[in-house]
Amino acid sequence: MTTPTPVTFTETDIEKLAGHEGRVAIIVDTEGKTDAAGRRVNRLSKGALNRALEARAEKDLKPGKVFTLAWPAGMKAEAVDVLCLPRRSGDIVARKGGAVLGRLRGKADLLLAAGRARRVAHVVSGAVLRDYDFNVHKTGAEAAKGTIKVMCSDPEAAKEAAAPHLALADGCFFARDLVNEPANILTTTEFANRLVDMEKLGLSVEVLEEDKLEELGMRTLLAVGQGSSSPSKVVVMQWNGGAEGEAPLALVGKGVVFDTGGISLKPAAGMEDMTMDMGGAGTVAGVMRALALRGAKANVVGLVGLVENMPSGTAIRPGDVVKSMKGDTVEILNTDAEGRLVLCDVMWYAQERFEPAGMIDLATLTGAIIIGLGHENAGVFSNDDTLCNRFLKAAEAEGEGAWRMPLGEAYDDMLKSPVADMKNIGGRPAGSITAAQYLLRFVKEGVPWIHLDIAGVASVKSETPLAPKGATGWGVRALDRLVADHFETE
Ligand code: BES
Ligand code: MN
Ligand code: ZN
Repeated sequence: MTTPTPVTFTETDIEKLAGHEGRVAIIVDTEGKTDAAGRRVNRLSKGALNRALEARAEKDLKPGKVFTLAWPAGMKAEAVDVLCLPRRSGDIVARKGGAVLGRLRGKADLLLAAGRARRVAHVVSGAVLRDYDFNVHKTGAEAAKGTIKVMCSDPEAAKEAAAPHLALADGCFFARDLVNEPANILTTTEFANRLVDMEKLGLSVEVLEEDKLEELGMRTLLAVGQGSSSPSKVVVMQWNGGAEGEAPLALVGKGVVFDTGGISLKPAAGMEDMTMDMGGAGTVAGVMRALALRGAKANVVGLVGLVENMPSGTAIRPGDVVKSMKGDTVEILNTDAEGRLVLCDVMWYAQERFEPAGMIDLATLTGAIIIGLGHENAGVFSNDDTLCNRFLKAAEAEGEGAWRMPLGEAYDDMLKSPVADMKNIGGRPAGSITAAQYLLRFVKEGVPWIHLDIAGVASVKSETPLAPKGATGWGVRALDRLVADHFETE
């Protein structure tokens, strides 16, 4: 598992700057004004810092930007990274700047001289989130990563302020690892085991096996997994940090550990990307982990449907009719529209068992959402403006792109089937919306619900501000914030 680099906080000691061997980071404002650490670096480097600040003033002294002074004379450091962060900077700018420091450091020891900077916790949050590398399968690559040390005026306060950010980074890394992991390693069984392992954090975790799912009537979920030799599972994770008996928020994740398309087989090119088709379940797991690590005062239940979509002699066929746990029958016209078949049973179960105060499902559900929104925004669908606006605000505050999409009866009509209660596809037009309409049929009257189609944002081909290319952990921070702002007691 990739764990975030631990961060230590100490009082500012400018005597340490000359002898530090990795990278030193200092903070300046947009006027190029330095603090005590900056003045010391300038003196040690015989004025090189001030000359650089003058030369870079136009281009680089912008909030959140970093420029580097390599191999500064008079110091042992390989570089001094100069972060421009004026006092009035917002959290997002501080995090963005911190992320650049986290990327630049590579494996080197980082000493951040933060002085009196107000947003240290956010700078640290950015540095730690960006400081991720999925290298568990590269022989010898786990060579020790350097440390991150922060010197500041009030180390105790900074440590306390940073703690929830570090819990969040841990949850985010957990989600990223799950998404990056190939499907021969992250089987449904391995996935469930990793979730059960979180019991040591105080979560209660149950694994529902196939016989139990059969008994519950989760036939559409089981239909997806029936062509695979990996057993289908539903994992239920409960975090009860809130008032006793208070209805929980339910998070439901699509956990297709590999999506070949089934008998409606996908083309070969790019099929390997479907190792990330459990991204919704990954995010749900990451949120549950973060909530437990920071001891959130809320009741939240996370449910994931873990299946593998394979073509075989036992696989479902196009044209098969299957009954969902709710009782509605589905004509499966395309076995590649499998995510909704998994989600509808898990969503129904979540509502029957937990009577949640709200339900949010996450899924790498449709290629169509990538056509619509690219890799910048997840598609947001909801039957409840209040919950939806709260989520959109949380996502914006965390810099996680999210864009609301419409729902409507005319789209629902596109799911009509001549032989069953519905079909599992609505045709090419509005593919993401008809998928959401399908899910809406499994939301009980009065339950505020959000569907997040994260096919475009769960894993990306080029780096983003807070992550290298690959899994992003999208949604872990937004959902944690939604819980913090609206579901915690006190
Ligand atoms: N897992 C895919 C959606 C997907 C595509 C995720 C690209 C990430 C990147 C999903 O199960 C799927 O195959 N959807 C089909 C639905 C269609 C058959 C109605 C699609 O989008 O083509
Ligand atoms: Mn599919
Ligand atoms: Zn899929």
